Amino acid sequence: MNSALILGIETSCDETAASVVADGRTALSNVVASQVEIHRRFGGIVPEVASRSHIETLNPVINAAMSDAGIGWSEIHAVAVTQGPGLLGSLLVGLMAAKSLSFALGIPLIAVDHIEAHIYAGFLEEPEMSFPFVAMVVSGGHTDLVYAAGHGRFSLIGQTRDDAAGECFDKVARVLELGYPGGPLVERLALEGDPAAISLPRALLEDEAFDTSFSGLKTAVVNYVNRARQKGEILNRADMAASFQAAVVDVLAAKAFAAASRYGVETLLLAGGVAANGALRKLFAQQAALRNIRFVVPRPAFCTDNAAMVAAAGYYRYMRGDFAPLTLNASADLTLESLLS
Ligand code: KG4
Ligand code: ZN
Repeated sequence: MNSALILGIETSCDETAASVVADGRTALSNVVASQVEIHRRFGGIVPEVASRSHIETLNPVINAAMSDAGIGWSEIHAVAVTQGPGLLGSLLVGLMAAKSLSFALGIPLIAVDHIEAHIYAGFLEEPEMSFPFVAMVVSGGHTDLVYAAGHGRFSLIGQTRDDAAGECFDKVARVLELGYPGGPLVERLALEGDPAAISLPRALLEDEAFDTSFSGLKTAVVNYVNRARQKGEILNRADMAASFQAAVVDVLAAKAFAAASRYGVETLLLAGGVAANGALRKLFAQQAALRNIRFVVPRPAFCTDNAAMVAAAGYYRYMRGDFAPLTLNASADLTLESLLS
């Protein structure tokens, strides 16, 4: 049987991305145009600027994904696109492009949830990935623990009660005056610091629930930095970055492994932009080895926003015949379960 080739399109935030994936497993191309340089001078993402930039960049990105894959339009079986959650104006750009291609080529349109897509990055990394598993999805807007019973059978078992882990990395980077985007900059500085230097809160660690909370940690960092500045003390920013990162990583690992144990799964997946973090990957790998759990984490390029994960998720919907109408609308606050149930 010929491979099913899915074109994926992702424009939910500040990356314009397109990719062609064969059989949900093999990325034939993975083109990501980052808007980091455009937003850097604002110190964060400006939604209106993001959607305009998607409009300018998306067509060239799609063409590059097609030519990198070395295939023609007639070979694409379906087009999958992120419907939400994300920035509404940005989502609409991707959706319009996907609908146009679906209509013009006469191929199915497939709507994908962004968090579902992050989870399917695990299938790109590990072709032998099998159900059931628990996924910890850590991104700029989400800290979701998901129980995956099968394709399209996901349930949310824990989430953040306030800030997402990535959001917290970005805020701490701003407080430490490291710049944007925060996560990778905090990680780099943390390499030079002592993770035990500053004692910071680890919220809900003892709580039975699988929810997380990072606003107390964020406030503790802000207060510590402000106090040091007021007293004229020199702040060891590397120690703060390392201590902050250790607090986040400890909580995420504790919650993920507690969930894996409660649900009795043999596989734990770590996904989303924050999963590119080396300290987080290392701690999960160590704990998994101790507990005899199979740990899957996509390579960093499949953790941060990309369209290969969208095409991979789209493939399984394609196989189920789960197609979207051309009247499909974007949904800024789409939830995983609303799309899957
Ligand atoms: O999944 P993603 O690319 O976009 C969203 O869906 O939000 O995640 C972006 C988030 C940002 O908050 C970014 O700072 C964080 O992931 N991030 C990291 C690292 N790389 C990206 N956080 C910690 N360490 C990293 N290396
Ligand atoms: Zn994401």
